[in-house]
Parts: sequence; C-alpha cells; structure tokens
Amino acid sequence: MSQTAPWWRDAVIYQVYIRSFADGNGDGVGDIAGIRSRLPYLKSLGVDAIWINPWYKSPMADHGYDVADYRAIDPVFGTPDEAEQLIEEAHRHGIRVIPDIVPNHTSDQHAWFQAALAAGPGSPERLRYVFRPGRGPDGAQPPNDWVSCFGGPAWTRLPDGEWYLHLFAPQQPDLNWQHPEVRGEFEDILRFWFSRGVDGFRIDVAHGLVKHPELPDLPPRTEPAVLGPLSRRDPAEHRCRQHVDHPHWDRDEVHEIYRTWRKVADEFPGDRCFVAEAWADTPERLAAYVRPDGLHTAFNFDFLMCGWDAKDLRAVIDDSLAMLGAVGAPATWVLSNHDVMRHVSRYGRRTVTRWTAGEPYVPDGPLDLDLGTRRARAAALLMLALPGGAYIYQGEELGLPEVENLPEAVLQDPIWERSGHTDRGRDGCRVPIPWSGRTAPYGFSPDHTSTAPWLPQPPDWADRTATAQTGNATSMLELYRTALHLRRDHPALGDGDMTWLETPDGVLTFARDPGFVCAVNLSTDPHPLPPHTTVLLSSAPVTDGLLPPDEAVWLEV
Ligand code: GLC
Repeated sequence: MSQTAPWWRDAVIYQVYIRSFADGNGDGVGDIAGIRSRLPYLKSLGVDAIWINPWYKSPMADHGYDVADYRAIDPVFGTPDEAEQLIEEAHRHGIRVIPDIVPNHTSDQHAWFQAALAAGPGSPERLRYVFRPGRGPDGAQPPNDWVSCFGGPAWTRLPDGEWYLHLFAPQQPDLNWQHPEVRGEFEDILRFWFSRGVDGFRIDVAHGLVKHPELPDLPPRTEPAVLGPLSRRDPAEHRCRQHVDHPHWDRDEVHEIYRTWRKVADEFPGDRCFVAEAWADTPERLAAYVRPDGLHTAFNFDFLMCGWDAKDLRAVIDDSLAMLGAVGAPATWVLSNHDVMRHVSRYGRRTVTRWTAGEPYVPDGPLDLDLGTRRARAAALLMLALPGGAYIYQGEELGLPEVENLPEAVLQDPIWERSGHTDRGRDGCRVPIPWSGRTAPYGFSPDHTSTAPWLPQPPDWADRTATAQTGNATSMLELYRTALHLRRDHPALGDGDMTWLETPDGVLTFARDPGFVCAVNLSTDPHPLPPHTTVLLSSAPVTDGLLPPDEAVWLEV
C-alpha cells in the first residue's frame, strides 16, 4: 500500500459483537470493560480496527439494533466515559474504532416514537415515522403487502387505528427519511461520536432508508431471485443478475443522504470512514454506494454468500474488483458476521448449499467439522491475500463453528418468535467467545462469576479457547495471527492489483506485485505448487511440492 493511501483502503477490521465478546462485570453479557481488557489480544492478533455492534441505550428487542438513545451507552454495556476511554485506549494500541449506526429505524422506546404515539394520527410527531391508515372499509388491512425481514407483516396497527411500518421487528419502527428533522438529527449524531474520536461507522441497513413515496405493493417475485443465490450457479448467470426496482430497498434517492454524510465525515480531521451494510442486486448497484462523493466502503456479501467453488469465487472476485474499481473504491472481503451461519459450518458440508439473502441458510447434510475447518483456513488465506480490506468476525480466528444445537428455550433472536418457531435465527453464531479454561464460561466472564453467559457455550470448546490456541503453530488463531502480520509487512498485500495465473480447473492462483502468489485448491485432487522461491504460509503443511484439496498457500516468487 502506498504510504499516502487512507487506512481504510486495506484495513483488516475485526467485528466485536459486544454482547458476546468479553464480559467485564460478571453479568453474563459482554461489555465495554470486556473489550478494553482484550485490546492487547486484538493488537497481538494484528487487526487495524474494530467495528462494534450497537452499544447505545436499547431495550434489546433486537440486541441493540433497536436504539432508544443514540447518544447514550446502554448500562448493560457500560457508560459514556468507558466508551471514550475505550476509544482512547484502542488508539493507543494502534486500533481504530468504528461503532454501528442504525438509521433505518429506532426503538419503539425512542423519545420520538413515544411522542408520535402520544400525539396521535395527523400529528407532526407521526411524520418522523411511517404511519398510514389501513386498507379496506374499516382500515383493518395493512397499508400494503410489505413483509418484515424477521417474518410476518411489516406493519403493526395501533389502538387508534393507524398502522406504522417496521421492516424488522414491531419494536423497530422505520424512520421517515423524507423528513428534514430525521436527516438533521442523524448528522448531529454522527458529529457527536466523531467528536468523541470514533474513526467511522458501520451503517446498518444502509440500502433501506428511502421508501417509495407512494408505498406501493411489492413487485412480483422475479427469477433469478433478487440477491440470490450465487452458489452452484454458472458465473455467467451470476453476471446477468438484474436490478429490480424495489419500493424500499436500494432506491437511488438513498445516495443523496450519504453524500451529506460524507461531508459530515470530511469535517473531521484524520480519515474517518463509513462502511455500508447494503444488499444490492448487482455489483454495479453496490458500487453506487462507494462513489467518490459517497460512502467509503461496503460489505461484499456476494463473497460471503458464494459457495466453495472456484468458478463462482473467481466470478465474484472479478466482478467486485471491476465494479468497485470503476468508481475508485477498494474491495472488501467478508466470510462471516453476526447475522449468518459461521463459515466453518457452512463449508463443513459436502455440498455448500445455495444461499439466498434474507432467507435462513439451510445446511445440506451432516457437518464435517474437519472439512469445514480446512476450508475455513484456506478461505482466510484467500481473503487476506485479495486486494482491499477484510472483515473478521469475532471467533472466526478461533475456528468456532456455528452452535447448531442451542436448546429452544434459550433462543433469543426475534426471528425465532416472529417466524412462528420455523427459523431458529442467528443465536448460533452469537455464542460468547471462549478465552481460557477447560469449562464454560471459558474466561468470557471474570473468574468465580455465578451468572452464566447469556447463551450457553458448548461443553467441547476447551481446545478452542484463545489461550489453548496461543503458541500452537497449527491452530486457527496462529494462522490468522501469522497471516495478518505477513499481510501488514508484505509490500504486495493490501490495496492494489492482482493477476490470475493459469491453473487447472478448481484451483485459484493469482499473483500480486512484487513477488507474491496465492494459490487455493478447491478441487478434489492435489495440484503442483506454482513456481516459487519460498512458502511464506500455508493453511496446512505442503509436501512434495503439492497443494492438497481444500488448502491454500502464500508463496514468495
Ligand atoms: C442488520 C443487522 C442485523 C439487524 C438488522 C436490523 O441487518 O446486521 O443484526 O437485526 O439490521 O437492524
């Protein structure tokens, strides 16, 4: 990376799902004190920044994505002072801090929504949200056919007869972004946190803010389905994905909001940055979020949704680099986050099933944990060798699998209830992190804490703790640590270009200047290593000059 390029062009950003990262005060829920205590770990891992899931005051209907006060820290996570101390200490460790911002909706406990409820139909207070009369003679039908991402209708009726929109849970009413007060308030919130030292924001549901003014019914479902499935599809077909004009997702008008946000970020010294959680039909549509006057980066969910398939992955990589490059933005790569099945478990199936965004990932067949782990190791080396930035979801560096057998009684994700108990939701990737020790809570909470972690940890995680893996050269943790340090030091890695090299089917091999080659074998046969001088790092030992199936290697050439 050139010395003058802004840090976010090739940053490795570690996602801290705060509830589950580290519990400093022994109440079984992760908090700011816990994050502060683990900064040395993050520094030694070698990440550039942390993205922290929402830490604001919240009734926790969706674990913080229902914000009641954007300027306050929820007491379960700590205090505003602790947040400022964390930002300062992280900076001292050379780690930047990016909180989550949730602009699409507030909590139903937010002062604005409470005022809207009290003021009644027709009041100016209701204009900050999306209130409408119902359809049908007595208004008993919802205003349109929109559905909540968590299941059921996207509308809830109040006793006074009006309906309000919530694209997620009923406790998450959607804001009306046509309203100048909504825009002004969020610009102020950004300034509030920027002036407290945060380095940027992850923007929740960035593609959802603007709704069609007439709130029309949904378009008929078209095939190939919007956003999906990439895996097992012909890459050419993937390239043909169409953008469908949608009444509430990815509307062109949303970019005007982010042009203003960019100006707000630019008011502050240093390189502040935004990363968009934007689900777009095509890579072109995604690139529109990161034009020079818009946001800085966006998650590359095509990469995350892609199956373990060389052709598909290559198509996603090519399309991402081409479309983002065309607007001058860096690519980002991500394998897991707090909303999806952990990739050790996705890859640990013989067939890595198709994935449709907005629908639960349905694993195909029994889990082969060794296979999933081997592929996850290879995928990490692929991701960290590609041009641009990367996201690591807490625990992926420990090789944690999805906890697929949480008892129903402990499930907390609103999806479980909203889906009428048909979709278990996202708790399985949110189980608290094992740090040390042989039994739960594995150092997640302080020693001798009597309160159990908010989700139970599996009894067989003793060998997966950070302590157990530290210093063990074959562990996932040491693979990540070594890769991150090599990536930081190697002049070919990070921002820049790549060139595909000729390889047999099922093998991905690319070169980066100067003198670096990455090869990943997604086929079922061993293949000779490309010519090289040194093996810098491999996901498993390479012998006899052969790269075995489901392995990856970094070479000096
Ligand atoms: C985003 C978040 C998810 C949350 C939803 C509603 O998709 O990643 O966790 O439930 O937005 O805010």
